[in-house]
Amino acid sequence: MDNKKVWYVTGASKGLGLALVKTLLEEGYPVAATSRYRTALTQAVGPDENFLPLEVDLTSEASIADSFKMTHARFGRIDVVVNNAGYGIGGTIEELAADEVTENFDVNVFATIRVIQKAMPYLRAQRGGHILNISSIAGFTGATGWAVYSAAKAAVIALSEVLAQDVSSMGIKVTAIAPGAFRTSFLSPESVAFARNKIADYEDVRASHNRYLAMDGKQIGDPAKAAEVFIQLAESANPPTLLFLGSDSYNRAIAKSTYLCDLLDTWKSVSCSTQIAEPVTA
Ligand SMILES: NC(=O)c1ccc[n+]([C@@H]2O[C@H](COP(=O)([O-])OP(=O)(O)OC[C@H]3O[C@@H](n4cnc5c(N)ncnc54)[C@H](OP(=O)(O)O)[C@@H]3O)[C@@H](O)[C@H]2O)c1
Repeated sequence: MDNKKVWYVTGASKGLGLALVKTLLEEGYPVAATSRYRTALTQAVGPDENFLPLEVDLTSEASIADSFKMTHARFGRIDVVVNNAGYGIGGTIEELAADEVTENFDVNVFATIRVIQKAMPYLRAQRGGHILNISSIAGFTGATGWAVYSAAKAAVIALSEVLAQDVSSMGIKVTAIAPGAFRTSFLSPESVAFARNKIADYEDVRASHNRYLAMDGKQIGDPAKAAEVFIQLAESANPPTLLFLGSDSYNRAIAKSTYLCDLLDTWKSVSCSTQIAEPVTA
């Protein structure tokens, strides 16, 4: 085997994960990829001697640990870990039931944490590696009706930024990626979830959900181009800790940043008004 980096990708039977795995294999990278459904994964990717398909339950530490053991046994190292598996959930805080919130955080946030925990011993031993955590523009500036999804993806950005600091001395890099709309199964009924209990008063929220659902199949982002960017990041000597991906994501991030700067300016005197006044010494 040449010196190509070894990749490990979660949630790869469709969408961004599948596009990434296919591109990596085309470019000759060794790839281990996970799915809840091994058959769907192997059928979607097709046979390739560089490919290790893994049926993994991302809610189980043991299942994730086994998948890293198998990846290391097969390829001898693990260089790039991509926390890609995730799904959107629509509904207001009042409408969403505890199990709906918990399940979404379990996949979008806690699975990401579990994967990082099981990957770190390999990356630390190698004194190198790169963790790519797929967040969303919703994690930086959310849209009405998607509070829990936004919170989960904000958590992914926050934990990535601190992780990057914690592991940099060991030569390990971390990048959170915040995509805008990409043409995957994300908005299809098989992927996106909505609150079971809908309250009629939330008319604007229903309208927002309908606008998103109408975007299914028309999103401007190309998953194959996203895959090329992921590879570019992993090959970069100096990757960013946070990358907004897609012109829609970039523009929303700029608008939020401008709003934040204005907000800071407007409220500066209040923000800075709380320090303890030291007694004047003679
Ligand atoms: N497409 C977009 O517009 C967009 C925008 C911003 C962020 N994202 C993020 O990008 C990532 C990939 O999404 P996608 O657009 O490729 O959507 P997708 O086509 O629906 O694919 C999502 C992948 O996540 C995995 N997944 C979904 N629900 C899961 C669950 N309950 N437990 C375990 N795995 C689950 C699936 O893995 P298996 O079925 O193979 O197990 C699937 O391959 C997600 O984290 C998503 O939040 C997407």
